Amino acid sequence: MKKLIDLVAEEMAEAFEAAGYDRSLARVTLSNRPDLCEYQCNGAMAGAKQYKKAPIAIAGDVAARLADNKYIGEVQAVSPGFINLTVSKKAAADYLNEMQAEEGLGVEKAKEPQTILIDYGGPNVAKPLHVGHLRSAIIGESLKRIARKMGHLVLGDIHLGDWGYQMGLIITELRSRKPGLPYFDEGYEGGYPSEAPFTIEELEEIYPTASAKAKEDEAYREEALHATYLLQNGHRGYTAIWRHILDVSVTDLKKNYANLNVEFDLWKGEADAQEFIPDMIERLKAEGYAHIDEGALVIDVHKEDDTKEIPPCMIQKSDGASLYGTTDLATLVQRERDYHPDQIIYVVDKRQELHFVQVFRAAKKTGIVPERTALKFLGFGTMNGKDGKPFKTREGGVMRLEDLIAGIEEEMYKKIAENRTVEEGEAKETAKVVGMSAIKYGDLSNQASKDYVFDVDRFTSFEGNTGPYILYTIVRIKSILNKYKEQGGSLSGLLVGEAGSGSEKALMLEIARYNEVMETAYEELAPHKICAYIYDVANAMNRFYHETKILTEEDEAVRRSYIALLSLTKDVLEACTDVLGFSAPERM
Ligand code: ARG
Repeated sequence: MKKLIDLVAEEMAEAFEAAGYDRSLARVTLSNRPDLCEYQCNGAMAGAKQYKKAPIAIAGDVAARLADNKYIGEVQAVSPGFINLTVSKKAAADYLNEMQAEEGLGVEKAKEPQTILIDYGGPNVAKPLHVGHLRSAIIGESLKRIARKMGHLVLGDIHLGDWGYQMGLIITELRSRKPGLPYFDEGYEGGYPSEAPFTIEELEEIYPTASAKAKEDEAYREEALHATYLLQNGHRGYTAIWRHILDVSVTDLKKNYANLNVEFDLWKGEADAQEFIPDMIERLKAEGYAHIDEGALVIDVHKEDDTKEIPPCMIQKSDGASLYGTTDLATLVQRERDYHPDQIIYVVDKRQELHFVQVFRAAKKTGIVPERTALKFLGFGTMNGKDGKPFKTREGGVMRLEDLIAGIEEEMYKKIAENRTVEEGEAKETAKVVGMSAIKYGDLSNQASKDYVFDVDRFTSFEGNTGPYILYTIVRIKSILNKYKEQGGSLSGLLVGEAGSGSEKALMLEIARYNEVMETAYEELAPHKICAYIYDVANAMNRFYHETKILTEEDEAVRRSYIALLSLTKDVLEACTDVLGFSAPERM
C-alpha cells in the first residue's frame, strides 16, 4: 500500500505542474508545527530563484490548485512561502480502513525478496552469557523480525564461539581434576561415554578457575595452549570432550535464549568453518592475494582514500595457527556456498569494527564473497550502569544475563503487586512478560551504536518512554475492546469514520505512518525508530482516550468508529512490539 505521505506528495506534484512549476519542487514533509498543520512543503521557496517570483506568490498559485482535492483538507500559503496542509478527514479514514483490510497492515513486501543472513548472539561456549551478549541478541532478533515483515527470507545464525583457547583451558583443568578419564589416555581406542563428565554448573565454574590459573601460572598456560592446538588438530579424546562441552552449553544456551524470546535458525559456530580453511588459504596464496609479512600470512586491505590506517588482515600466524579473521573468512566461504546470501548483517560490539572492515575488504578483494553481496556491520555500544561504567554486579563482577533478567522481574513484580490486587501466580507471570518489555525496549529505544545506561528504575516505570508504558497502553485498549464485546458489540466489519476531534485525527495520522516507519526501520537497520514511533502512537492514543467518552458515546455509528480505530491501534502496536521481540499480557 502506498504511504500516506507519498499520496499527499503526488497531489502536491500535480498541483505544482498544473500551476506551471517544476514538479520536482513538491517535496512534502511531516509538519514540525503540528499545532498549525499536518504536512508542509517548502518547494515554493526553492523555486523562487528559478521563476524569479516571490515564494509566497508561487505558494499561492499551488495552494489554489489543491482546493477541493480529495486527499487534502485545508491548504494555506503562509509567508514567506510555505504551503501548509492537512489531510482530508475522509482520506484519513479511508486510508485506515484500507490498512485494516490489507494483509500486513499496508506494509509493502519486497518485490524481489532477498536472502539475508544475520550473525548475532555470538556467545562463547562454556562461558556464561553476560550482558554484553544481551544487546547482540536483542538487536539481532529485532532486525530479523523486521526484515521478515518486509518479506525477505532471513536466517539468524548464532555463530557460537566454540573453537578457541577457552576449550584448551577447560580440557587442561578437567585433566588436572580427573586424570583417570579415558579422554586423557593416549593409548585408549574404545568409544567414549555419551554422558558428559560435568554439568553446566561445573562447566561454568571450571572455565573461570582455569582462566585465572593460566594468568598466574606460565606452565599451566602453555599446557592449555597445547591442548587447544591438539584439539584443533583432531586429537580424538579432546574432540570428544569438546563435543560434551558443546552439548552441555548449547542446551543451556537454548534455554536462556528461549527466555529472551530469541530464536536462531542456524546453530553454527567457529568450529564449523575450520574445514574450509586449508583450501581457502591455498587458493589465496596461489592467486597472490596473501603474502608473508614478518612471518605471518596477510592480505593487504588498505585503500588509497583511507583516512586512517587499515592494517592488513592476518590469516595465519608464523606458527601456522589461524586467527579470528581466518575463521570469519572461512565462515563466509561456507555461507556463500550454502546460502548465496544477498546480505549478511553482523550485530557485534562496535569495538570489533576494525576487524570487520578488514574481513569485509578481504572477502570482497579475494572473491570469497561476490561484489553484489552486501556485508554490513551493525556495531552496538556498551550497556553501562548508572555510574557510566560497563554494567556490573553490586560486587563489581560481570553481571550474568540470568541474574539481570531475574532482577528486572523482581522489580516488576513489586510494582505489579503493590498497585493491584492480582493473585500471586498471575502477578509473577505478568512480571515476566512486562519485565521483558522493560529490558528490550530499554535497549532498543536507543540508537544501537550508542552506549546507554541500564536504569532499572526508569526501564520498569509505567510512565514515560518505556516498554511497560507501551504495554500498559495496549492492555488499556484490550480492556475497552473486551468491555465492548461484553456489552454485545462485535469487532468484525467495523469501519473507521471521519475524525470528530483533534486528538482523534492525530491518532489516525500516527496509525497511518505504520508502513513508512517499518520500511525506514528496515532500510536503516534501526529498531529504535519503531520504538520512537510506538511511543508517539501510545501518547496519541492516551490523549484521545482521556479526551473522549468511548464506550458511553451515545451515537452508535460514532461509537463503532472509535472501536474500529482502537482495534487498529492495537493491531499496529502489537505488530511493532512483535518485531521488537516482546508482547503484552491480557491484564496488568
Ligand atoms: N563470539 C564473539 C565475541 O563474543 C562474537 C562473534 C561475532 N560474530 C562473528 N562472526 N565474528 O566477541
